[in-house]
Amino acid sequence: MPSDTRTPPQHVAIIMDGNGRWATARGWPRLVGHRKGAERVKQIVTAAPDLGIKWLTIYAFSTENWKRSTEEVLGLMALFSRYIEREADRMAANSVRMRFIGDRTRLDDRLRGLMDGIEARTAQHSRLNLTVAINYGGRDEIVRAARALAAEAAAGRLDPARIDEAALGGALDTAALPDPDLVIRTSGETRTSNFLPWQAAYAEYEFTPTLWPDFTPEELAAILARFGTRERRFGGVVSA
Ligand code: IPE
Ligand code: IPE
Ligand code: MG
Repeated sequence: MPSDTRTPPQHVAIIMDGNGRWATARGWPRLVGHRKGAERVKQIVTAAPDLGIKWLTIYAFSTENWKRSTEEVLGLMALFSRYIEREADRMAANSVRMRFIGDRTRLDDRLRGLMDGIEARTAQHSRLNLTVAINYGGRDEIVRAARALAAEAAAGRLDPARIDEAALGGALDTAALPDPDLVIRTSGETRTSNFLPWQAAYAEYEFTPTLWPDFTPEELAAILARFGTRERRFGGVVSA
């Protein structure tokens, strides 16, 4: 059934792109752009609940981003740890529940410990559900889910004939999340770069030329207002 065209997006997902170009344009190292980007994350996370967003999912590091220089990769990993450490109290105080999606097995023990810790510490919160995708790739996620279901089937605990969309969706990292209604990508690139391919099958997309370090809550509000005018049909027909 088509939804009310005025329904605000419940779940917004963001591909935060353009940190490197933002820094390079100023003659600064790429990591300065990432640091600036992290400041933006703080600001958007703070603004999101007041804009009516209940679920916010942000793409911080893809399974493909390991191709970057060791310096950049290590710098990003250090930034993730620092963000969790520095923002933990604020998230708890603002009732933000933090989760992570992606394959954690390749991350170092200290970062994984911080991720597990903040997930446990904020598990009772519900004002905003903030999910950060780290070492996340949609194809990798589907492969891991297929492997888990196959293992269940091989052990005789799952009848392959019963594997349906709900079963596969429930085996993904996002099992606890609703599907995103709106996916935003900054920096002018009009691709999805392996972000939530299953979950965003019916999402609306918005691409803005703004580089992530320049993305403001005001621009987010304008995008949300535009979303409110879109007609979501989900394959159906909207009656006059
Ligand atoms: C997005 O900014 C952040 C990550 C992918 C970690 P980029 O680092 O991709 O910035 P550009 O695309 O090079 O400008
Ligand atoms: C997508 O950005 C990944 C993140 C924002 C974390 P990239 O900059 O890695 O994507 P491509 O390489 O332009 O597709
Ligand atoms: Mg990029």
